[in-house]
Amino acid sequence: MKTLHGQFFFAAAMGVSLLLTGCNKPAGSSAGGEDTIKVGEFASLTGSEATFGQSSHKGTQLAIDELNANGGVLGKKIQLITEDNQSQAGQSSTAVRKLISSDNVVAVLGEVASSRSLEAAPICQQNKIPMISPSSTNPKVTEVGDYIFRVCFIDPFQGTVMANFGRKTLKMNSAAILSDVKSDYSVGLAKFFKEGFLANGGTIIAEQKYSGGDKDFNAQLTAIKAANPDGIFVPGYYTEVGLIALQARQLGITVPLFGGDGWESASLVQIGGAALEGDYYSTHFSPEDTSLAVQFFVKHFKEKYGETPDAMAALGYDSAMILADAMKRAGATDGAKVRDALAATKGFHAVSGNITIDANRNASKPAVILQIKDGAFKYVETIAP
Ligand code: PHE
Repeated sequence: MKTLHGQFFFAAAMGVSLLLTGCNKPAGSSAGGEDTIKVGEFASLTGSEATFGQSSHKGTQLAIDELNANGGVLGKKIQLITEDNQSQAGQSSTAVRKLISSDNVVAVLGEVASSRSLEAAPICQQNKIPMISPSSTNPKVTEVGDYIFRVCFIDPFQGTVMANFGRKTLKMNSAAILSDVKSDYSVGLAKFFKEGFLANGGTIIAEQKYSGGDKDFNAQLTAIKAANPDGIFVPGYYTEVGLIALQARQLGITVPLFGGDGWESASLVQIGGAALEGDYYSTHFSPEDTSLAVQFFVKHFKEKYGETPDAMAALGYDSAMILADAMKRAGATDGAKVRDALAATKGFHAVSGNITIDANRNASKPAVILQIKDGAFKYVETIAP
């Protein structure tokens, strides 16, 4: 099995220009025909979770560029065809139908948000087109069927990690939960956190809800303040979490807020600012990781984009690399063969950690806890499954 290290060293030896020349074709282009392997991607490039899709896409594109610079896969270059779902419900199914029926992609990469992966997965499954979600953590995603994979951990693990962290590390006896009823991710993570916190002898003294897109959280936060918890678990996405933090501090709530990977965006701190200082969240990757694989990835990502990669970027990269590895081992691009090869993935050295695909097509991987300090995300600890 080819390891990332090999690819990194090769790319490093060939110099930076190799990475920058790339083989990008414009999104949606069908140029290249049979000489290329077409891979589809659906992502939230615009809208309320724009940074998720953009980061994930940048990681995916970097992987494709590196693969193509190394000769591609099965003697062909990979052509990535990307569709924007605008962070909106209903758009992912349209995007994936188009990728499969008009573009004839052999596999689909996406999405970050679990609800949007859940929307697209039945279409991939029906068409026997392997789909790899880089970072959707809700368990239901891969339950859709045997063509649906992911390269990240799932929320029963993430919820337990944050329940233990709140209870044992932050020594909270009680917690409140403020979750997004519109998001499968948020509903699931709230449930798994609650189970873990209760199992550890903690008490959940308030459970409040909002709907993604809401801007005013004062009613929920006032109720939470009255319950006087030791901490507030907010399993949401960055746009709402930033506003929730601001409004919580304005109401005089001083206890820590904590959450999951949905917090991960530079925009979180732009929205929430100092209100988030000292708060914690769990995610998949830290660019501060000193391992060679991570440092090469961070270096190449910075060279290409002029910014530091986040978890979505790392997982987007890994999703494309896992697909390429499976196609190489399958010796073919047809759906059933790639599906079988993906299912057989073992110990693949990915930037987000080693990936072995289990019987449920999930990856069991460590979680990383980060703290917001001086407006930046600082590494706290790694929790193994
Ligand atoms: N895990 C989140 C979901 O399933 C998405 C996400 C992944 C957000 C990684 C940020 C970082 O919806």
